[in-house]
Amino acid sequence: MNLMLNQQPQVEFSSADNFRRDVLEGLKTNPKRLSSKYFYDKRGDHLFQEIMAMPEYYLTKCELDIFKNKTAELAQLIIPGNEPFDLIELGAGDAMKSTYLLQYLVDQDMDFTYMPIDISGNILSVLNEKLNTQLPSLPVVCLEGEYFEMLQKAASMSSRKKVILFLGGNIGNMSIEEAESFCFDLNKNLTSGDIVLMGFDLMKNPQLILDAYNDKAGITAAFNLNLLTRINRELNGNFDIEQFQHYETYDPQSGACKSYLVSLIAQEVQINNETIVFEENELIDMEISQKFSDEKIKELGEKSGFQVIGEIKDSKKWFVDTAWQVK
Ligand code: AVJ
Repeated sequence: MNLMLNQQPQVEFSSADNFRRDVLEGLKTNPKRLSSKYFYDKRGDHLFQEIMAMPEYYLTKCELDIFKNKTAELAQLIIPGNEPFDLIELGAGDAMKSTYLLQYLVDQDMDFTYMPIDISGNILSVLNEKLNTQLPSLPVVCLEGEYFEMLQKAASMSSRKKVILFLGGNIGNMSIEEAESFCFDLNKNLTSGDIVLMGFDLMKNPQLILDAYNDKAGITAAFNLNLLTRINRELNGNFDIEQFQHYETYDPQSGACKSYLVSLIAQEVQINNETIVFEENELIDMEISQKFSDEKIKELGEKSGFQVIGEIKDSKKWFVDTAWQVK
């Protein structure tokens, strides 16, 4: 196995710096907010795996249906003829779904390198170990860091055609405006002919959506509260986790599903020698999981300079993987 783990100390130093800056900035704005991209420390990775296993959390099951049961159709849609390529996955996580595609492509003797990009070095080493055993002949290059930095790094390593996977509805963690500029930037970072496969969670019965993010067992609540624990540990904070409550909303008109933490009392929290004041019932905006219509997805792709080349939905039609090509 051809493995390269990108873990320069400099990158880790600057990511700790970014974390401190983003947290303090977010808690000093009104309304307060934290970025859900910081949910994924070791315990956060674990809690997200528990979320994916919950009966209410349909997203992973739907996309798995696509990757497991429509693999050939998927490969035909996104894999360039017979030329060698790089298969880059943004926010790969444990790559549970994409492993079905990897297996299929290896079985077909395709010449490609798999490059998973993730902000969590922890999950990348788990993934690397898994691929090492399951697909020992597959060249893997793990890239730990922010999406665009690592995408540029990948481009500097090879000039082969790129196929980008951005799955799981990860794009939903951006507001519509952020998603638009993200897709635009993604397009600019690629070359004509490159292909993107993006996973979107579709609008559906609103109760089904709310239930997926508001489980009775409290796993989603723990997932949100874990970011406060992470701040306590990594940024020398003193959040009293008991004094914050998870609150979830879904607006079926805009498709925005949002997570908040509510301060149960008036309180002061110390982070990195700074004081953050909370009023009773003050909110921290934690996460958006945007749901899309077919029209909105098409518009997003075309606005950002892609040509829509096809899509595959799961059998319930709750989730879609859409293929775009750089013009
Ligand atoms: C990993 C961003 C796809 O928004 O559905 C799951 C994260 N948050 N439950 C999502 C998440 C709460 C998830 N994504």
